[in-house]
Amino acid sequence: MLVEIENIFKSFDGLPAINGVSLNIEKGERVVILGPSGCGKTTLLRMIAGFIHPGKGRLAIDGIAVADNGRCLIESEDRQVGMVFQDLALWPHLNVYGNLEFGLTAKKTPRLERGKRIDAILEMVQMIQFKNAFPGDLSGGQQQRVALARALVMQPKILLMDEPLSNLDIDLNLRLRKEILRLQNELGITMLYVTHDRDEAFFLATRIVVMGGGKIQKTGTVNEVSEYLSKLSGD
Ligand SMILES: Nc1ncnc2c1ncn2[C@@H]1O[C@H](COP(=O)(O)OP(=O)(O)OP(=O)(O)O)[C@@H](O)[C@H]1O
Ligand SMILES: [Mg+2]
Repeated sequence: MLVEIENIFKSFDGLPAINGVSLNIEKGERVVILGPSGCGKTTLLRMIAGFIHPGKGRLAIDGIAVADNGRCLIESEDRQVGMVFQDLALWPHLNVYGNLEFGLTAKKTPRLERGKRIDAILEMVQMIQFKNAFPGDLSGGQQQRVALARALVMQPKILLMDEPLSNLDIDLNLRLRKEILRLQNELGITMLYVTHDRDEAFFLATRIVVMGGGKIQKTGTVNEVSEYLSKLSGD
């Protein structure tokens, strides 16, 4: 099991945001978390990434406990987790190459290998020709491709994506969905993807987790969840 989430809780100022969530993710899965605003999707991702920690419960990645009952056992930078956010979080003062190089340098990857890995991943997301461009000169879709490449170049064990396409227009959204699917197939990477868009979830997922009120309401295949949601809305 690549990710094990065992009965985790998280409150902010006494208000529960995650209220007893358990979920296992296997290598190579594309799990999509679907749920309305405020249901705890981002909070769950941030706990897996290690930016915040569950108040209760256990979290393990690749067989290693990373957080247990209020204690952080493995810091974020040592979890080998990649994250792509809704709001483009590229460093504006670094060019595309610099944005991808930053994390590799921090991990003391040798220069030659940095260059090779960056070029390969930029080819893959079709951004190699923009290697020297600065984020401000790129379109939203191009910036999101770079953000994806920046996460992937670190060769994470799991890629967490928090509504990465929701700020893009519909054409671009559809194009990048396909591209994410292609990349995931090529790399075989495990993906945990958050969205409130059913279409996007059905398109991308091998398994869907429906969240509501800080809890998991339903887990299943696209067909199972689609049926569950239509019953809920009385179709
Ligand atoms: N740092 C924080 N401080 C206080 N409350 C927080 C914090 N982060 C999240 N919350 C609260 O926790 C709950 C879950 O928030 P979260 O951001 O996880 O929701 P979400 O499902 O990602 O919503 P959205 O779809 O709008 O992004 C909300 O009620 C939110 O106000
Ligand atoms: Mg969110």
